[in-house]
Amino acid sequence: MKLSPSLLSANFANLERDIKELENNGIEMLHVDVMDGHFVPNITIGPVVLQSIRKITDLELDVHLMISNPGQYIKAFADAGADILTIHSEADIHLHRTLSMIKEMGIKAGVSINPSTPLFMVEEIAEIIDLLLIMSVNPGFGGQSFIEKSLEKIYKADQMRKNRKLDFLIEVDGGIKPSNSSKVLNAGADILVAGSAIFKGRNICENINLFNDFVKMDSKQ
Ligand code: DX5
Ligand code: ZN
Repeated sequence: MKLSPSLLSANFANLERDIKELENNGIEMLHVDVMDGHFVPNITIGPVVLQSIRKITDLELDVHLMISNPGQYIKAFADAGADILTIHSEADIHLHRTLSMIKEMGIKAGVSINPSTPLFMVEEIAEIIDLLLIMSVNPGFGGQSFIEKSLEKIYKADQMRKNRKLDFLIEVDGGIKPSNSSKVLNAGADILVAGSAIFKGRNICENINLFNDFVKMDSKQ
């Protein structure tokens, strides 16, 4: 299992301290949620903050763009140090063009689908993506409940990649907790995004251990 903690639930007045704590607890990826107040109702951070984060960490920066017209901002986020740039299928009518643009920047390209978006929306571009991000909540806020129906979509995505011999990673975002992590992994996910479950109670180390314990427990059964 790979965990990609979402910075959205971190302490924004002390990001460096939280990021160091993730590093010290074996985390390799950091999920950065970018929201524009247009594609989603909330507003978070942009390339300037990403650039500051890049300076203090070698974690793989997994940048989730919840913004309209993402094509306009690819260069800015790539220059700021993103390792993976994920755009929403619903936010771009020229997905193929924007994903190709991301790859031309020499970084990994991801595409995300909302809970109401069927998997077939990404069928035609599945060959060129490095990552498929399946939203298991409606994007915009941390701390929401996992939508159970997402499990079916994760399973279908895994089947599609096996049938077509593709190698994109499947990442799942929203409402992930230690208690539901095994079923999400068993459905076919490779990377779990977790915000509130990692930063809850400010005990990052204990929260990460809980995830590891649950997954270990499940693999023994
Ligand atoms: C939601 C974001 C998520 C969010 C997840 O729109 O994309 O990454 O931080 O938060 P939790 O894990 O609390 O559901
Ligand atoms: Zn996210």
